[in-house]
Amino acid sequence: MTNGCILQTLLLLCFSTTALSISYKALRLYQSSGSVTCQELLLQLNVRPCLEDRINFKLPEKIKHQQQFKKKDAAFLIHEMLQNIFSVFTNDFSSTGWNKTIVENLFGELHKQMDRLETILKEKPEESLAWRNSMAILHLKSYYRRLQRYLKDKEYSSCAWMVVRAEIMRNFPIISKLTDCFQN
Ligand SMILES: *[C@@H]1O[C@H](CO)[C@@H](O)[C@H](O)[C@H]1NC(C)=O
Repeated sequence: MTNGCILQTLLLLCFSTTALSISYKALRLYQSSGSVTCQELLLQLNVRPCLEDRINFKLPEKIKHQQQFKKKDAAFLIHEMLQNIFSVFTNDFSSTGWNKTIVENLFGELHKQMDRLETILKEKPEESLAWRNSMAILHLKSYYRRLQRYLKDKEYSSCAWMVVRAEIMRNFPIISKLTDCFQN
């Protein structure tokens, strides 16, 4: 290898690590504005007053209080949340009279955000292996299972959807806050 080549390789290495740190920075911006977009879309879904009891679905404390996570772990957590939110809205919402276009836009936005996170999660996938089965992730999955179960038990009633929509609305500021970990 000539010196020129070595220099080129070194430069390439430098550039690729720079690109990586920039992408966490960019991801933080994208993810924060993406959370706002999702909240705006949810706000466009009409709300019906409803006397349903407020229910505590018990979002894991660790996530609610934004414990400091490693940035890759935070990316994995956010991805998991987005995927579950997506899955919640694939349930039958015909009782609500919601505009399907708005829900489709929400799906599009969630997909875009998940794709961006996946580019980072795909690098050194072995790093996220242990995390995949961590307590934080298991608790998070149970939380969304409770949401899904609630909808099912209430037969996807309009009222149940109002409760679930409000709960999901509260997920986005938390996701946005989790992106602070991308600075770590
Ligand atoms: C549904 O939402 C879309 C996008 O906001 C809008 O263009 C369309 O007119 C809405 N449809 C109905 C039936 O309200």
